[in-house]
Amino acid sequence: MVITEIIEKKKQGLELSKEEINFFIDGYCKDIVKDYQASSLLMAICLKGMNERETFDLTEAMLNSGDIVSLKNIPGIKVDKHSTGGVGDKTSLALLPLVCSDKVKVAKMSGRGLGHTGGTIDKLESIPNFKVNLSLEEFEKQVNDISIAIIAQTGNLVPADKKLYALRDVTATVDNLSLIASSIMSKKLASNADTILLDVKFGSGAFMKTLPDARKLASLMVKIGTHFNKNTIAVITDMDQPLGTHIGNRLELIESLETLQGRGSKDFHELIIKLGGIILYQAKEVTSFEEGEKIIQERINNGYGLKKLFEMVSYQHGDVSFLEKLMKEGIDKTKYIIEIKAPRDGYVVTIDALKIGEASLLSGAGRKTKEDTIDFDAGIILNKKINDYCKKGDTLLTIFTNVDEHEDACALALDAYRIEDKPIKTKPLIYEVVSNEG
Ligand code: URA
Repeated sequence: MVITEIIEKKKQGLELSKEEINFFIDGYCKDIVKDYQASSLLMAICLKGMNERETFDLTEAMLNSGDIVSLKNIPGIKVDKHSTGGVGDKTSLALLPLVCSDKVKVAKMSGRGLGHTGGTIDKLESIPNFKVNLSLEEFEKQVNDISIAIIAQTGNLVPADKKLYALRDVTATVDNLSLIASSIMSKKLASNADTILLDVKFGSGAFMKTLPDARKLASLMVKIGTHFNKNTIAVITDMDQPLGTHIGNRLELIESLETLQGRGSKDFHELIIKLGGIILYQAKEVTSFEEGEKIIQERINNGYGLKKLFEMVSYQHGDVSFLEKLMKEGIDKTKYIIEIKAPRDGYVVTIDALKIGEASLLSGAGRKTKEDTIDFDAGIILNKKINDYCKKGDTLLTIFTNVDEHEDACALALDAYRIEDKPIKTKPLIYEVVSNEG
C-alpha cells in the first residue's frame, strides 16, 4: 500500500478501507508514514469527513496501537466516566466515591490538565504525599479492597493518539468529529471499563461551542462505544459558565468535599446527582436513573461518599489530615487575594467560562505547556453566578494568586462578567441524554 494513494483517495472524498486506515495508523506509529503525510491526510479527513464505518475502524486501529488495560482481576462492574473538559470541572472527585461499592468498581486512570481546563490527577496531587503512580498490583488490590482507585495513566495506552493529537494541534486539524470521537473513545476503550459515561460539554468554556455540534459528537461516541460492546451513554451539559464556584486545584478539592457533605453549589450538586444516577443504572444497580439519583443523594446525606474519598486518599498515601484542615480552614493564604467588584447594579447574565479559565491559568492554577509547574493554592472563587443580583461594588469573584503581575488575570476575570438590568431565562444544566436505547 502507498500512503500517497490513500491521501489522494480521501482528497477525492472516497471511503477508506479498514486496511488503508490500519496502514496509516500503523505506519505513522512506526515513522514509516511521515508527519507531513499524516497532516495531509488529516486535513483531507477534516475537509471530506469520514463515515461511521471508517470512524469505527480508525478508533480500532488507534486502540490497537498500544496496551489495553486488563481489569480481569477485579470482579464487579467496572464503571468509567469522561468529561470533554470544562472550567471548574471537578466531577470525578465528588462523583466517583459516591458510585463505587462492593459491586460497582472504579478503576480509573486519569490525566493532567493543560490550558484552561484542569485535570483530576493534578487535583489529587495537590494533597500532600498522594501517590498517583501505583503498580498494577497495588492498583488492583486497592480497587478490590475499597472499590476505588484513581491513578495517572500507566503503560503505553494509545500511543497513536499521543502522536496524532500533537500533530493535529499544530496543523489546524483538531476540529473534525471523527478525529475527536476516535481520539477520545480509543483512550476510553483502552481503559477497558464495562460502562462509559461521557459528559459532553458545550458553551464558551468547552471544546464544542454549540448544542448541535455537542449532540453530533455525543451520538458518534455512543455509537463507537456500543460498537465495541461497552454500555455507553452521553450527557450533554452546559459550560456557558464555569461549573460550581471553585476553580483551581485545592479550591476544587474544597468544593468537592463540600458537595460530599451536601453543601456544594447548586449546579455542581445537581450534576453529581444526575450523573451518579446514570452510572448506577449503567451498572445495573437500579432500573431507572431516578432510583440511582435517590441512592446518590442518600450517600451524600449519610456521609458514604466523603468516607470513600478519605479511604482512597489514605490508601494512596495522601495526607488525610490535610483534607480535614482544608474542610475547616480552607487553602493557605496566597500572597494576593483580590476581590473583583461589580461595576454596576444588576443581574449577572454572562460568566464567560473560557475567560475565567484563562484568568485562573494566569493566576498560576494551570499549565500553559506540559513542562509548567502548578501552584496548587491558586485559583478563583466565583462569588456571583448567573442570575445572581449584585450591587455596584459587590464582589463578583475572588482571585487567589502568588503571581506578582496579575493585572491581566484581573482584567480577564472582570471582562468575563456581564451585568444587565434583568435576569435571563435559566438554561438547564443537562440538555440531553444520548444512548443507543433512544
Ligand atoms: N480530547 C481528546 O482527547 N481528543 C480530541 O481530539 C479532542 C479532545
